[in-house]
Amino acid sequence: QPRFLSDYQSPAFTIKKVDLTFDLYDNDTLVTAIMQVSRIDKSSKQLRLDGEHLTLVSVAIDGQLLAADQYQLDDSSLTLSIEQDDFTLEIETKIDPENNTALEGLYKSGGAFCTQCEAEGFRRITYFLDRPDVLAEYTTTVIADENVYPYLLANGNKIAESSVENGRHSVTWHDPFPKPSYLFALVAGDFDLLSDTYKTASGRQVALEIFVDKGNIEKAHHAMASLKKSMAWDEQTYNLEYDLDIYMIVAVDFFNMGAMENKGLNVFNSKFVLADNATATDTDFFNVEAVIAHEYFHNWTGNRVTCRDWFQLSLKEGLTVFRDQSFSADMHSKAVCRIQNVRLLRRMQFPEDASPMAHPIRPEKVVEMNNFYTMTVYEKGAEVIRMLHRIVGDDGFKKGMALYFERHDGHAVTCDDFVDAMADASQVDLSQFKVWYEQAGTPTVKVEKQFDQAKNELTLHVSQHHPDLPVNKTTKDLLIPIAIELITQAGSQSHLLTLSQAQQTFTFKHLENEPVVALFTDFSAPVKVEFEQTDQALNTIITDAKDEFSRWDACQSLFMREIFALINAPSKAVSATLLATVSSILNSEGDNALKAEMLTLPSFDEIAELCDSVEPQAICRAVETLKQTIAGELASEFKQVFTSNQQTTYSKDAKSIANRALKNVCLNYMARSEQYASMVSKQYYEADNMTDGIAAFSTAVIANLPDLSAISEHFANKWKDTTLVMDKWYSVMAQQQQDTFTKLQALLDSESFTLHNPNRARSLIGAFAMNNPQHFHCESGQGYRFLADRVIELNAINPQVAARLITPLIQFGRFDQATQQKMKREISRIASIDKLARDLKEKVSAALSS
Ligand code: ARG
Ligand code: ZN
Repeated sequence: QPRFLSDYQSPAFTIKKVDLTFDLYDNDTLVTAIMQVSRIDKSSKQLRLDGEHLTLVSVAIDGQLLAADQYQLDDSSLTLSIEQDDFTLEIETKIDPENNTALEGLYKSGGAFCTQCEAEGFRRITYFLDRPDVLAEYTTTVIADENVYPYLLANGNKIAESSVENGRHSVTWHDPFPKPSYLFALVAGDFDLLSDTYKTASGRQVALEIFVDKGNIEKAHHAMASLKKSMAWDEQTYNLEYDLDIYMIVAVDFFNMGAMENKGLNVFNSKFVLADNATATDTDFFNVEAVIAHEYFHNWTGNRVTCRDWFQLSLKEGLTVFRDQSFSADMHSKAVCRIQNVRLLRRMQFPEDASPMAHPIRPEKVVEMNNFYTMTVYEKGAEVIRMLHRIVGDDGFKKGMALYFERHDGHAVTCDDFVDAMADASQVDLSQFKVWYEQAGTPTVKVEKQFDQAKNELTLHVSQHHPDLPVNKTTKDLLIPIAIELITQAGSQSHLLTLSQAQQTFTFKHLENEPVVALFTDFSAPVKVEFEQTDQALNTIITDAKDEFSRWDACQSLFMREIFALINAPSKAVSATLLATVSSILNSEGDNALKAEMLTLPSFDEIAELCDSVEPQAICRAVETLKQTIAGELASEFKQVFTSNQQTTYSKDAKSIANRALKNVCLNYMARSEQYASMVSKQYYEADNMTDGIAAFSTAVIANLPDLSAISEHFANKWKDTTLVMDKWYSVMAQQQQDTFTKLQALLDSESFTLHNPNRARSLIGAFAMNNPQHFHCESGQGYRFLADRVIELNAINPQVAARLITPLIQFGRFDQATQQKMKREISRIASIDKLARDLKEKVSAALSS
């Protein structure tokens, strides 16, 4: 039962106002919805409402109860025959939040009630037009036991509260901004509350409230500071102010994704709220700030202007990721942020874009919408917005944003509407640019260079190539912005080329001598590049390019080159020039955070992505050889840089974070040299912060050091009561190299392991499949079997999490035939189970028919 973008029809009815009452009980919550419904299409007589996993209690139209033969009910809908153009529809349903293990709709997380409605979870609360182009004004009353649930929250402003019978109380909220059902939220529970205020640019006071589990308030300060920074940034950057009088964030431990931008009441995975020096790493602090910003920015890009239909998801997600990336880059090192965006894209999105589930950033066919909250829609979507920004310029982009809000505030619109606003505001023709929205697959750009000594002229012959994917009916040429840097002895010059045809030639005159060319500086387009560079040219880029991203990228290219050489000739010696490059980076002046990035080898998935028909074990062996050799040859240099970046007191300023990053990269190499391996456990036991502690612990695991079991026991014992830190423990333990499957089984059997908590499930199973390639891809196929077994178990508990965890198993196309067969065998086994959820069915069918 796929749905197609091309079948979109505007709604025949709409709902203008909703009055919801929740009488909360664990297993038996009564939901009363009173809706003001209007007919839009006068010829339409049937009103079909979405509803799943509901028990219908009653339906009434304009106060008249309907008898059972006056409506049709099935597993996914309630259909009514309608005479009136405008009427009041009252529906009562019963739901069972306690047994809702899918964590969609209304469910219990720990002791609290909470909701997750995006994309189509509201239909698990009541019968409704559960589609984003139906915008209603919500009034929500929540009734629950006053002692157990002192806080009763919903969207908007609080308008009434009272005590009612049996020790219960009732609170009513009103949200004046019409919104689609996916932005509805309700929370009931007992929390600690961190309160603050923010004064907007125009002088309005906004109450800021963060709700966390009792005892965690000290861990909420960083989130609060991040929220205020985000609010200020959006005012300064885009003139966008917050619009309600209150902004609430609730942190819960059971959550399928990162966080949710419900109007005025964000619900967050506690992983992206809670942070303090003892329990959070530098990366955690960064991520909390980024996710807080992301959800806050959705208030305009998502909530004030929303999506017409779910195929348009990237309208809000690609744009909001671009906004949160820009914010993070303004708060931290621009180059390091950019490098991390690109690493993520290459490691996770490029493989997705070549997989059986490949889709354009605006998909055209969807079975289960939850399967499309993807790297492609989010991260490639953000790259597409970034290209737009580069093409129309910063000024043009800001004008485009202003025009977008002027035209569409309060409406549900499409990706085309967004691009049209950009085109109209900047006066740039973007018709060809729109192809990025309809075409899947990572393009390859091939470049050949020619230098004419006599004329001092450089010519670049550039062509674009598109993978042949079943999802693409045709392939069209894209508009690809190519930022470049030409490096000569005289200095460096930057240019922006626009590739619009299949093949194009670009000429540069008046060059004194042949320049070194850095292509796609700042990663100006999400493409793969084929361009022959000498090692010497790459080294020139590493030392002389102005663009720091290109310096890092050139270094990665050198590593890649060596890894491929080792895959082809495992016993070859590691190139001496590469070792010299690594040494000179280690000993260079400059930003330590950038150095740490440069010294980090490409990940398994980045390498596999550039292969076809390669044995996964060959990749693992090549990387191991390279790591060992670098570690052995440069051991004393790593030790020296490690020592000089040790800090005596812990601090979170940018410089200290950078020093820690570099030091911990050094430690990772040192773990592989006999004379310094003992530094790992020394750092572990002496660490006064989580960044250093976990770096040492995970290094001990990956290098399989003798102290490992003592360290892991110490860690587990110290943190057994801190859920988020125990998630880290499971992730690190998933990377064990010896007796891996026996140990994994013990971890599954351990008391604090549960598949019901998505963070916990991901921390063990996801981390194993993504971060332990040696064993996930072991020859026996046991790694694939392990993942498939867990996916099958999760199918019955939480299909959304199951469908996410299966990802590495369906990305088999890049491996050799024997490996592919082992992977497909496990996919077939999943496909054959009883009651396979729609989420998994969509993915396994795609995988098996490819
Ligand atoms: N809109 C949320 C965010 O990006 C994500 C919601 C994901 N929901 C889902 N069912 N997959 O911030
Ligand atoms: Zn989002």
